[in-house]
Amino acid sequence: MARLGVNIDHIATLREARKGVEPDPFLSLSILTSLNVDQVTLHLREDRRHIQEDDLARIIQSKVLPVNLEMSASPQMAEFTLRYKPKTATLVPENRSEITTEGGLDLTKKTDEIQKVISLLQAEKICVSLFIDPDIKQIKLAKELGAFAIEIHTGAYAYAFGKKNEKEEWSRINDVVKSAGHLKVYAGHGLNVSNLPSLVSIKQIEEYNIGHSIISRAVFVGLKQAIAEIQAILR
Ligand code: PXP
Repeated sequence: MARLGVNIDHIATLREARKGVEPDPFLSLSILTSLNVDQVTLHLREDRRHIQEDDLARIIQSKVLPVNLEMSASPQMAEFTLRYKPKTATLVPENRSEITTEGGLDLTKKTDEIQKVISLLQAEKICVSLFIDPDIKQIKLAKELGAFAIEIHTGAYAYAFGKKNEKEEWSRINDVVKSAGHLKVYAGHGLNVSNLPSLVSIKQIEEYNIGHSIISRAVFVGLKQAIAEIQAILR
């Protein structure tokens, strides 16, 4: 069974809509652990639009679940991350005007800076995963940079789902993961109960990080059921 990381950013998005204290993302941890979710994923964005430093500190310090911290590949963020030491750091591109992470990290740009961040984090035993598009050139660079894992940005596939280019986008992912070699392969972005089943047949994908669809579904059926529905697909 592939592992599941539940991205809880959007619990914080709801809280930040009122700049208040509820709902508290920390309180989701007991539900995640009761369902044996493998990790909690969160993105501390530069603009702090959802998860705050205090959320990250409380979640990591509680040691309830392994934490996958999505972060920009900047030296400042690396320094910050070294203080908290999550199990995994997923390097993502960050752009203040975007609604969400709209594409993978381009490893052909700022390569030295990315390399430095990877080295700093991995020297402290934080596993580094690079969030990249399903592009053979990016996978080759991810290997050269010595990352532990790649997370394939599944946004294009999710967007194509049910349209005529669905098969093409699925095949793009299926083809590129074959060249991952020793890199661990994870996937995420835009995944839900409809588009996940056909991805699960790509056995090389060991882990999925899913947020928006789980939190959206939870509004109607509760977090426990929303997560269980995804787990049933991964089984
Ligand atoms: N993985 C990464 C690296 C992401 O940046 C995101 C979005 O924050 C996700 C997974 C989850 O995407 P979604 O919220 O669309 O499920």
